[in-house]
Amino acid sequence: MKKIAILTSGGDAPGMNAAIRAVVRSGLSLGYEMYGVRDGYRGLVENNIYKMGRKSVADKLSDGGTFLGSSRLPEFAEDEVCLKAVKNLNDLGINYLVAIGGDGTYRGALKLAGHGIKVIGLPGTIDNDIVSTKFTIGFDTACNTVVEAIDKIRDTSSSHHRCTIVEVMGRHCGDIALHTGVSGGAEAIITSADNYEIEDVIKIVDDAKANMKRHALIVITENVCDVLQLARVVENKTGFETRATILGHIQRGGTPSAFDRYLASTMGAYAIKLIEQGVNSVCVGSTGNELYHTDINQALSLKPDTNQYFYDIADMLK
Ligand code: F6P
Repeated sequence: MKKIAILTSGGDAPGMNAAIRAVVRSGLSLGYEMYGVRDGYRGLVENNIYKMGRKSVADKLSDGGTFLGSSRLPEFAEDEVCLKAVKNLNDLGINYLVAIGGDGTYRGALKLAGHGIKVIGLPGTIDNDIVSTKFTIGFDTACNTVVEAIDKIRDTSSSHHRCTIVEVMGRHCGDIALHTGVSGGAEAIITSADNYEIEDVIKIVDDAKANMKRHALIVITENVCDVLQLARVVENKTGFETRATILGHIQRGGTPSAFDRYLASTMGAYAIKLIEQGVNSVCVGSTGNELYHTDINQALSLKPDTNQYFYDIADMLK
């Protein structure tokens, strides 16, 4: 009899609930025993694990966040902490863990694999920074939230003839900025210190002014610079009144888009197919219409695409 636990860890992402539901229901349909772990790796360490049935995941598909709860637990990298989790899983006879989250979650899963627990990773993060999949669960919804905000900001920005700098999440990955900058008609998309020169930003805003644009929009990834300070510099150098908006955690909430629900549901079911075949220590990926899996170790070492082709397109469209 296979006993499978599931947890969500790291920053929550819309669609995580759909993934949990898919894993639990697919597992139950094969006769497996399913267990939920509350609050990520913390729940594993503290033995906050409970048995789940079909009803445990009823009416969760459209909910944002993760009903299992999540946490960030850097201490899980320590053997002493991880071994408590291993003991709790072994005591319950649980032989597989499905861990949904970002790269920190995958590292936690690998740590467990090193102590004999079989693991499958599902990519759940709004950042889209798991290179072994084209899309992570939550990214599409977050982009929709950002574009909705940008459209609103444009109304006021245009009414006041202003430049607006919108800071989006992504940690160190520029995908949210790139996708929403193109979808929101940004004059500039800044995604890392590498493509950020204050002179370039000023030129873009000067050009917008010279072209009599009613407003200018700059979308920038978090952790590149202080956007409030950037707004002051842009305003001083260009004379274009400028405001900065930091969208923050609003990007993580909300009901998942149809795309994220589909991605999460199919990835969740695929995880159980892998378990049925005895596959282990892999993470699930998607091209958008095809699912596949990659060794977790290898997934963590892949280098991100530069996406230069798409930055060039963004440049042409501004
Ligand atoms: O990884 C998701 C994410 O929202 C990042 O975009 C962001 O940098 C980080 O989490 C914020 O983390 P916290 O909610 O712990 O402040």
